[in-house]
Amino acid sequence: MTTSSLPARPDFSGDVAAHYAEYRRGYPPAAFEALARVFGLDAHPGIGDLALDLGCGTGQLALPLAAHVRTVVGMDPEPDMLGRARAAADRAGVRNVLWMLGTDADVPALADLLPGDRPLGVTVIGNALHWMRPDALFAALHPRTRPGGGVAVIANGAPVWAQDTDWSRALRGALEEHFGRPITASCGTDDAEREGYADALKSAGFTDVQEEVIAYEDALTPDQLLGTVYSAIPAPSLPPLAERPAFAARLNAALPAPPTAAGYPEHVRISLLTGRIPG
Ligand SMILES: C[S@@+](CC[C@H](N)C(=O)[O-])C[C@H]1O[C@@H](n2cnc3c(N)ncnc32)[C@H](O)[C@@H]1O
Repeated sequence: MTTSSLPARPDFSGDVAAHYAEYRRGYPPAAFEALARVFGLDAHPGIGDLALDLGCGTGQLALPLAAHVRTVVGMDPEPDMLGRARAAADRAGVRNVLWMLGTDADVPALADLLPGDRPLGVTVIGNALHWMRPDALFAALHPRTRPGGGVAVIANGAPVWAQDTDWSRALRGALEEHFGRPITASCGTDDAEREGYADALKSAGFTDVQEEVIAYEDALTPDQLLGTVYSAIPAPSLPPLAERPAFAARLNAALPAPPTAAGYPEHVRISLLTGRIPG
């Protein structure tokens, strides 16, 4: 890692990483089946594909993806996120993932370590591209990705404060009151951002750029909703431990009662934006 090249980045350390590991939902098997199909992924030991999960966080993509390739490199600039990811891999007995500290700026140096001219089968970026420089990253990945392989920019549904439901609007209002400013972050999930990413993939020379959507219905219990909120607040802005009961009480007072025993209903829309190297 070249620390001098690390750009300013959000702070996912400490309790934020802990809440991310415990409360952020992962991705359904259909997402990994789609990646395997689009990129023709090969899991054979020794000769199969190498995957890069950039901005891997606590391993939501890297761990299930490991079953579809020879090796995954999970790369992230936050040591606490990587530590949680490694612990999850150990618990699950997943051995073919290598965890590396680094950012999008470190991709050329990583690829130079790997065997072969075009060592990468696929690079996945889940809920993280909005902190990277897409043009430079895609230009760096293009010559390092094998024919038929490519890049997947993945969005795991809209943030909990940005959904078109009464409970989400109430949550947004309560967060805006707490932080004293509008909460507008869509974290790379809105249509305009996704169109910009598609254009950046095409400009870098990726072809067959397309979006596949996997949608399903789910629900968040009040605890899961609160944990998800804590996983999304930058560490310096997280309420101190002693203030969290009051913070949670204010959010709960603003939210309507969960309409079902399962909690707050959520229409989860996963977007897989993919671009390939011809071949
Ligand atoms: C919202 S989490 C996403 C985790 C996981 N990929 C997922 O789909 O749930 C975003 C991650 O991107 C990482 N990140 C932030 N800036 C980055 C950068 N420039 N390069 C690589 N990762 C970055 C953060 O440390 C964080 O772990």
